[in-house]
Amino acid sequence: MTDKLASVLVSIRDGVIDLGWGHPSSRLHPIEAIRLASDRLLRSDDREPLQYGATQGFGPFLESLAGFLSKQPAYGMSVDPRHLFLTAGASQGLDLACTLYAPAGSTVVVEEPTYFVIEKIFRDRNVKVVGVPTDSQGMLVSGLEKLLLNGFRPNLVYIIPTFQNPTGFCLSDDRRTHLISLANRFDFHILADEVYQLIYFDELPPKPLFAFDEGNRVISFGSFSKILAPGLRVGWIHAAPEIIKKFSDAALTFSGGGFNHYASALVREVIDLGLLDAHVAVLREEYSVRANAMDQALRQYFGSEIEYTPPTGGYYFWLTFPEGFNSDQFLTSAEKAGVSYRPGNAFSESGLFSKQIRLAYTLFEVEELKEGISRLYESFRKFDPK
Ligand SMILES: Cc1ncc(COP(=O)(O)O)c(C=O)c1O
Repeated sequence: MTDKLASVLVSIRDGVIDLGWGHPSSRLHPIEAIRLASDRLLRSDDREPLQYGATQGFGPFLESLAGFLSKQPAYGMSVDPRHLFLTAGASQGLDLACTLYAPAGSTVVVEEPTYFVIEKIFRDRNVKVVGVPTDSQGMLVSGLEKLLLNGFRPNLVYIIPTFQNPTGFCLSDDRRTHLISLANRFDFHILADEVYQLIYFDELPPKPLFAFDEGNRVISFGSFSKILAPGLRVGWIHAAPEIIKKFSDAALTFSGGGFNHYASALVREVIDLGLLDAHVAVLREEYSVRANAMDQALRQYFGSEIEYTPPTGGYYFWLTFPEGFNSDQFLTSAEKAGVSYRPGNAFSESGLFSKQIRLAYTLFEVEELKEGISRLYESFRKFDPK
């Protein structure tokens, strides 16, 4: 008998509270909104969503998306639909950006640490990756400037400016302005991965990087994965018209038409029914409660044994353990105790993050999060690295 083929990206072992995955919980998937939107789409008898789509994306979707973003306080600017491009999620958009802007052998700068899959996307493209350190205000842009002044010439800078993955920090306004001035001076583009922009808890985050751009340097990536459902595979690029044209003219887009055309027509209905606004409000509330619960549990169990800054949005806690701790080694013990996480070194090829671990609070319910932290602490207490 053959093994059953998998149906989802990650299946978590029964009994394990796996805090390593930044995925939404099934309970929060907005099935009723998708049902209503599907009904409306199919009843309209419009056959265009079943045709090859426009290369830039389904026009009515781009218009609804522009209207939605323009109203978001965390977006903070008016969006022109002609500045948007439909993707099949941020990952696909980033991969296409490599095709268009990073030929094999070119160099891309990333934050140290950064989103753990992105380095692999760049490696798959034979692109060289150079890390620049970060602090609580995001990338050390002055560090990048030093490299540039010494003759370093990257093609691209990849950055997660808001609620960074894994650290949760936001790039300060000053550094946003500085980074863009460097892009203009040293002639590179910035891939701004802004998939967490709308998931803020109390205070608004800084505006997207595109709002600081006056020279057509920023290519901003948004996604419905973090605000609606990742299975839909719908996202967008927000950039200047000359950049949007380059993506629309790509051979891949021309051959297959706009990416994920039908799903984008469905998302457009969700937006027009007012259901996306409602769902994002639910997510912000739910994740804020979960982040709070995780914070309380970390304080209760670990007290001052670890250091972290509670997140103000996004999906993650980035914890620093005491000197000598090795999060790669500890993983086996934690998993034996029924809890998992992502070790710090997964987010960098530098090997500098042995003391760090990343926890996500989005996939599990509050009681499970508390239990997860309790298990983590129990195994930490007993952990003997030898
Ligand atoms: C920073 C970042 N970019 C991109 C993605 C993936 O986005 P998408 O599902 O839109 O491809 C993730 C998912 O965790 C992420 O954290």
